[in-house]
Amino acid sequence: MADQTLAQSFQNAGEDYDRFRPGFPEAAADAVLPVHADTALDLGAGTGKFTERLVSRASRVIAVEPSEQMLAVLRSKLPTVESHVGTAEEMPVPDASVDVVTVAQAFHWFDRDPACAEIRRVLVPGGTLGLLWNHSDSACAWDRACTRVAHPDLTDGLTADDAVTATLPGFDNPRFVQVPWQERITRADYIARWLTVSSFLAASDDERARMVAEVESILDADPETSGRDEFDLPQITDVYVYRAS
Ligand SMILES: C[S@@+](CC[C@H](N)C(=O)[O-])C[C@H]1O[C@@H](n2cnc3c(N)ncnc32)[C@H](O)[C@@H]1O
Repeated sequence: MADQTLAQSFQNAGEDYDRFRPGFPEAAADAVLPVHADTALDLGAGTGKFTERLVSRASRVIAVEPSEQMLAVLRSKLPTVESHVGTAEEMPVPDASVDVVTVAQAFHWFDRDPACAEIRRVLVPGGTLGLLWNHSDSACAWDRACTRVAHPDLTDGLTADDAVTATLPGFDNPRFVQVPWQERITRADYIARWLTVSSFLAASDDERARMVAEVESILDADPETSGRDEFDLPQITDVYVYRAS
């Protein structure tokens, strides 16, 4: 089960999370919803960074998220989306009422087996589950080094999430798609983004200051970022598309 201190670190992250975290490329949403759906549900929706990709792809979009503060940002951005406080393990949604469930950057926080059973419950027979994660491109040395400040246990270039996605109870083996993309980002926003990551949020003030100083010194040392106010940040979105079996 996920570390609950880290899982709940987003409770108060709302506006900074929305401002500084990356969005998701259209191609990643296309991989999960290649055709228009009747009802799509974004689970662990946060401030709606992936939910907004669903609005043009489904007639009815539902967001489920445990943090009121994150949901308040989502509601102000996406007034047509139906939003509920809830968790992956207990969604306030009827049985067999959703065609597609998406989970962006959040599945690793769930209690996996109860969450899979709950997702199966709300999905129509044969419905789709899409799991998505943005992560650093292992070819980008400075971003990889900064990623290690946040996640010291991470293996090279991989997301920590690969371990949870091989097979899921109640679902067929997934189709896996990787979407590479690039973002122009200021140094200030790049550092502010790290401050919205769970390990930074959950750290003590001293520990957080040490982590930020480490990120700053990585940026000062790398020729691609040293002395620059802006740089190109390559990223990869991993998409796993499951079908309810
Ligand atoms: C890294 S954020 C991702 C938010 C959004 N999907 C995005 O991509 O920007 C992880 C989200 O998972 C939510 N979360 C944590 N535990 C959860 C659970 N058990 N069920 C549903 N959501 C959960 C957090 O509140 C947070 O909003």
